[in-house]
Amino acid sequence: MSWIRENTLSWFQLMCVQVIKTGHIPRHIAFIMDGNRRYARKNKVLKEEGHAKGFDKLAETLQWCLDLGIPEVTVYAFSIENFKRTKDEVDALMELARKKFQRILDEKEKLMEHGVRIRVIGNTTLLPQDVQELIAKAMLITRGNSTTFLNVAFAYTARDELVNAVRSISAGVREGRLSATDVTESLIDRSLYTGEYSDPDLVIRTSGEVRFSDFLLWQLSYSCVYFTDVLWPEFSIWHLLAAIFYYQRSYVDVQGIKKLHKCVAERESERVSSFVTWLNNTREDELINLGGVC
Ligand code: FPP
Ligand code: MG
Repeated sequence: MSWIRENTLSWFQLMCVQVIKTGHIPRHIAFIMDGNRRYARKNKVLKEEGHAKGFDKLAETLQWCLDLGIPEVTVYAFSIENFKRTKDEVDALMELARKKFQRILDEKEKLMEHGVRIRVIGNTTLLPQDVQELIAKAMLITRGNSTTFLNVAFAYTARDELVNAVRSISAGVREGRLSATDVTESLIDRSLYTGEYSDPDLVIRTSGEVRFSDFLLWQLSYSCVYFTDVLWPEFSIWHLLAAIFYYQRSYVDVQGIKKLHKCVAERESERVSSFVTWLNNTREDELINLGGVC
């Protein structure tokens, strides 16, 4: 299945989508897609089939988000912790990634038509070389798009992301690009993989587990959190609408808390701006080295 599906909603579901759109719609939703293996056990199919069904559900969910006018989605597709699973399962997930990132290259026109930009966040050096190259190509060919953003956390944990940011900053200080006094909350924020992205307004975790499992710990500080018991492959438009309805009911409180904690933006020094630009260019060069000029 491709990343963007044709519309599968009935007229009644589309009408409910229109009703919910009369309220506040989150601009960025993050998903912890959990429960693929329990779904496989429940339906007496292989784990790999559970993950494949999980991908199909991701494609369907992206279409719903497009229908709802949600411009940014981040999904937790593979945690660094997931490398500890059996070799067979890790290999199957890598094979699924190979197939799906290749699909982005084969279906470039469709993504261009919807203006979808794919960004992968994570320590991708931990992945097989061919998967790294496919990911780089997928990011490069869609980098001119700016209508909808799909951020895929792959070989990701939040702690690893923070370590990576701190290492980049300390190298910046060592090489004289930064001074120790430049290290602020804002500099750390801008040095994360998500430095240029918005923070999620709403995070949804499926399968009844009520934890973040090292996902976007920095970025979720003021997000609305919604846990649901449904297993990810069984997630439906009704679950998504229920989560958005919950967000709408919490909207005033969450906005109030956000305002209270919003740090007063300090004017960024020339040195910090140059460092952030240098860091982004370095990351872009790494992508081009892997994916070639697209
Ligand atoms: C969690 O369920 C799910 C995963 C570890 C993998 C999620 C991956 C996908 C939905 C496919 C996405 C693929 C790409 C290429 C973006 P689990 O395995 O932890 O299931 P359990 O909680 O029932 O054990
Ligand atoms: Mg799980």
